[in-house]
Amino acid sequence: MEINYQETSKDLLTRIDIHETYGSANIDVWTNELLQPQTGMDILDVGCGAGKLSFLFDDYTKGGAKITGGDFSEELLDKARAKNKERGSKIDFVFLDFNKRFDFADNTFDLCTSAFAIYYASNLDFTFGEAHRVLNRGGRLFVSGPLPENKQMFYEIIKEATNATIPPMPGSSRFKGDIFNTIDRIFAKTELHKFENHLTFPEVAPFIDYVRASLSEDRKLWTSMFNGHDEYEALIGKITDVATRWFERDGKLVMTKVVGGILATK
Ligand SMILES: C[S@@+](CC[C@H](N)C(=O)[O-])C[C@H]1O[C@@H](n2cnc3c(N)ncnc32)[C@H](O)[C@@H]1O
Repeated sequence: MEINYQETSKDLLTRIDIHETYGSANIDVWTNELLQPQTGMDILDVGCGAGKLSFLFDDYTKGGAKITGGDFSEELLDKARAKNKERGSKIDFVFLDFNKRFDFADNTFDLCTSAFAIYYASNLDFTFGEAHRVLNRGGRLFVSGPLPENKQMFYEIIKEATNATIPPMPGSSRFKGDIFNTIDRIFAKTELHKFENHLTFPEVAPFIDYVRASLSEDRKLWTSMFNGHDEYEALIGKITDVATRWFERDGKLVMTKVVGGILATK
């Protein structure tokens, strides 16, 4: 299954910022507690985007781990490299398309991570096979992504605003099923962990910022819902009306992110 998906750095960074500003829990703390990356480890972060997880591990190990971040978006890699330079970190940010052979030797890494990315892979057996190949024996794979119950309120508001069917999201629709099962088949041991984050919006505007950063015309996932700029703005207008009604009724808007973390050992 080919998935036509493209992330822009502006949208990605807006969503990360909104999670941090309005969330009740911190996914970084959860990730570090679960993985506890150590000094001396060789870590590969697949679909690293602007480097969020790579920088997290670099901070946690105080620069002591050898970290490689790979992504196929040159725009996001540029952001990551600029931040790397600014911080004086030694992370290696490289081009990596997870639908192609990873350009690393067998048994290279102790930890291979992928946050909200690798589940877009066209051929799950191939991509997770690559992650398995480049990991050392006993090395761990960590893949995070949305569970099916993720941000129900967001989809309900869009459904109410449009009366349309929500396009299937490759992450949440595949995470617990195909993705977990593929990893479980390839790796020696597989566990599913769960992280919940309640985002409480004290007004409608930041929720709409989140909606825009998810539906934006540049993200190809939602294009069945609108055709061009005018239809996009009309859709945002309808979503704003429904969100405002919900806000007036409840006094706040609460969206719960429900994230799964698949942790597997080679
Ligand atoms: C939602 S972002 C997550 C980025 C980062 N891991 C984070 O947590 O902030 C998804 C990332 O997957 C990357 N991506 C999508 N398809 C890819 C592919 N075929 N190969 C490599 N990266 C890909 C995108 O460029 C984007 O950086």
